[in-house]
Amino acid sequence: MRTRIYTFESDQIVVHWDYHRCIHVEACIRELPSVFCRDERPWIHPERGTADDIVRACEACPTGALHYERKDGGPAEMTPEKNTITVSSDGPLFVKGDVRITDAAGETILTDTRVALCRCGRTRNKPLCDESHLEAGFTAEGALTEAHVKNGDGRESEGGELVIRAIEPGPLTIKGSAEIAGDRSPNCCHVRVGALCCCGKSKNKPFCDGSHAEG
Ligand code: SF4
Ligand code: FES
Repeated sequence: MRTRIYTFESDQIVVHWDYHRCIHVEACIRELPSVFCRDERPWIHPERGTADDIVRACEACPTGALHYERKDGGPAEMTPEKNTITVSSDGPLFVKGDVRITDAAGETILTDTRVALCRCGRTRNKPLCDESHLEAGFTAEGALTEAHVKNGDGRESEGGELVIRAIEPGPLTIKGSAEIAGDRSPNCCHVRVGALCCCGKSKNKPFCDGSHAEG
């Protein structure tokens, strides 16, 4: 997994930006355009905003490319009370919560509150999304079917650690409580265990149907 972290600092806050995790969703720019300035170099100017506003913009970043350290004594980022996985239309799985990603052997490769996981199979930064879905012309609905909802766990999600194991060539297995929803439909399902497609070939997206084994 590649990381290249740049740091931007004011007297109130330090902002860390990971170049390899930024897929230009631009949530930060929409939230605080005076600080996150796409067309300037450097592009982040923490001295132009308050720590509270910058925190809000960093936490809006769904990929975890942005993190911060407060120097003004304000609180650190809270872990969300429940884990959520948003299946984005034609794009990655946005995971929020108490997230631990491991490799196939169970070794931790990342812990975070926000990550974007590749589901098109084309990323060069596995298991994270690197925006290759655009180049690949990946299309997939950001929605769950009625069957997905019916086959879900039924119990409400209750938080706690969500362990996602990236098994090459697939799938991403889940252990822990999570709510899964599409970005284009109100349907959601709750899971305690499961396997999500990360090769882009499943006919039962966002879940794995074994298609990765077909080569
Ligand atoms: S919100 Fe995150 S992924 Fe989007 S542009 Fe900002 S840093 Fe990059
Ligand atoms: S879903 Fe973004 S690179 Fe695969």
